[in-house]
Amino acid sequence: MCKKPYYITTPIYYPSAKLHIGNTYTTVAADALARFKRLTGHEVMFLTGTDEHGQKIQRIAEEKSVTPKEYVDEIVAGIKDLWKVMNISYDKFIRTTDDYHVKAVQDIFKKLYDQGDIYKASYEGLYCTPCESFWTETQLVNGNCPDCGRPVEKAQEEAYFFKMSKYADRLIKYIEENPHFIQPESRKNEMLNNFLRPGLQDLCVSRTSFNWGIPVTFDDKHVVYVWIDALSNYISALGYGSENQDLYKKFWPADVHLVGKDIIRFHTIYWPIMLMALGLELPKQVFGHGWLLVDGGKMSKSKGNVVDPVVLVDHFGVDAVRYFLLREIPFGSDGLFNNEIFIKKINSDLANDLGNLLSRTVAMVDKYFDGVIQAPAAKEDIDDELINLALATPKKVEEAIDKLKLPEALEVIWELIGRANKYIDETTPWILAKDEAKKERLGTVLYNLVESLRFASVLVSAFLPDTSVKINEQINTEVTSWNSLASFDGTSAGTKVNKGAVIFPRIDVEAKIKEFDELKAAQDKANGKRDMIPLKEEITIDDFDKLDLRVVKVLACEPIKGAKKLLKLKIDLNGEERQVVSGIAKYYKPEDLVGKNVVLVANLKPVKLRGELSQGMILAASTDDDSELFVVNPGELPTGSQVR
Ligand code: MSP
Repeated sequence: MCKKPYYITTPIYYPSAKLHIGNTYTTVAADALARFKRLTGHEVMFLTGTDEHGQKIQRIAEEKSVTPKEYVDEIVAGIKDLWKVMNISYDKFIRTTDDYHVKAVQDIFKKLYDQGDIYKASYEGLYCTPCESFWTETQLVNGNCPDCGRPVEKAQEEAYFFKMSKYADRLIKYIEENPHFIQPESRKNEMLNNFLRPGLQDLCVSRTSFNWGIPVTFDDKHVVYVWIDALSNYISALGYGSENQDLYKKFWPADVHLVGKDIIRFHTIYWPIMLMALGLELPKQVFGHGWLLVDGGKMSKSKGNVVDPVVLVDHFGVDAVRYFLLREIPFGSDGLFNNEIFIKKINSDLANDLGNLLSRTVAMVDKYFDGVIQAPAAKEDIDDELINLALATPKKVEEAIDKLKLPEALEVIWELIGRANKYIDETTPWILAKDEAKKERLGTVLYNLVESLRFASVLVSAFLPDTSVKINEQINTEVTSWNSLASFDGTSAGTKVNKGAVIFPRIDVEAKIKEFDELKAAQDKANGKRDMIPLKEEITIDDFDKLDLRVVKVLACEPIKGAKKLLKLKIDLNGEERQVVSGIAKYYKPEDLVGKNVVLVANLKPVKLRGELSQGMILAASTDDDSELFVVNPGELPTGSQVR
């Protein structure tokens, strides 16, 4: 039988930092989809890889005094190890430093140049190095990069440009006519309204300010812009433009590019336009999932809230982590990760529902029939509900997966698991076991439970591959195909079960959280972090606006008799002279401050300190133990300038 091809991709990862559970999310989701498609008879190409060029990598390598290639080689090995730990069944791992990819990108660039879609000009703009993106003034958020919030730098270069604008109308039409191209729906509207309809600018697609990139063949002081380089991976991996195009012909266009919402713009604007210019088909779908948030913020190394997937897997096993990611994060929106929610979910769904169903069933077959599964010879009406639900479940799961609704797919499977547990309570096998005349009925009940477990095992196998294998071992079955779920009789009577270890031991929530907190504290200490005075309650901008902070100049300064800690300052606030008393005598001599600008809380109600009037407060930063203190330095701004 000719299998239907299915091509799924993850983004290719920057090897610039250790991957955290948030990055892992995309790849685990793609893996579940890939496994599911294989299970349901598709020929799957699941692509992942690494995005290795760019200024950021070059800078990191320079800091470490190694070549960029040496640096990326080491990190890429770590990423591959992580995918092993997470049980990721990719079919191909592409590195943008691979020869065939470099050649494909060079050919693509040349072709677009030759046909006039890429042209040379001079460019000045605001550049965010971590994101490798140019921005216009109006796109900035609070003066910073709208994607990562970090500062941008002015940059000017001679560069090649891609005529994005030429294809904008065609792309708008395409998106409007193909409602499934960008999913979820909200992301589609965002792209149309925020980027495409206001008009596209031509995209700067080469760089000369660094050289760690793919050289433009006909002008080698330029390297290809990383996003043109990176996006091309989706076709270069299939051999596009090479001598052997078999994979390309079989798998392109991709069924789905799975990406995080932060990079959906690149995938639904730049990438389709590149493909249109190359005369190639567009991917069938780009799905932008949400972010995994920790403590209310996006996980990122700079925020220090990264959760290490390897540590989680060490403590809870890979399938517990996979389950949480796939079940708890609404696919398409943001989801929250925290240890307590995570552990409670494992206890309830994996230890209680699935784990117990397996342990109880196998233990009963063991106890009542020496481990031998009996033929279902004494059926009763009550069995039908369980059997019918089992038979209906595969289709429901398939429908959810086709809409990329991963949590819903798991929910449907857990309904069956829940139903099987309820069936135990309804049929009370331990009571049947007391009556010799009910032996046949008991055998039937246990058969139905084993067969339900077989269903559950096949159904979860794409999501929790190790767990599925463990269930199969205990119920001793090799009947694991999707098609075997067409009838409720795949378990062979006479088979002997293998009572094994508990698949998800119950976790003591409090003890585990304590252990994790201690682990984190030890890690923070090792990373040079210290205990900080806890942050205060959140305020609104209106609360902050009540403060009137101003630049003032110190005109005169003297100690106060009998008050060792205090200095008395005369200050100038745009012509108005004021007196302020400040507890900084331990850190500054009066002459250090005279003539300096400092920041004053100018609308603080005046008070008397040691009999001296204080009309405001000087801002200073200090260590928690007050061993060091510095008054805030506003530079040489005119007095009266606002501090905001
Ligand atoms: N190199 C680019 C992708 C190029 S694709 C042609 C890139 N790499 S990345 O390493 O920064 O990100 C890889 C993926 O991880 C992205 O899909 C990103 O959205 C995702 N995530 C990063 N942090 C995340 C969370 N906290 N939560 C969920 N996904 C997150 O972007």
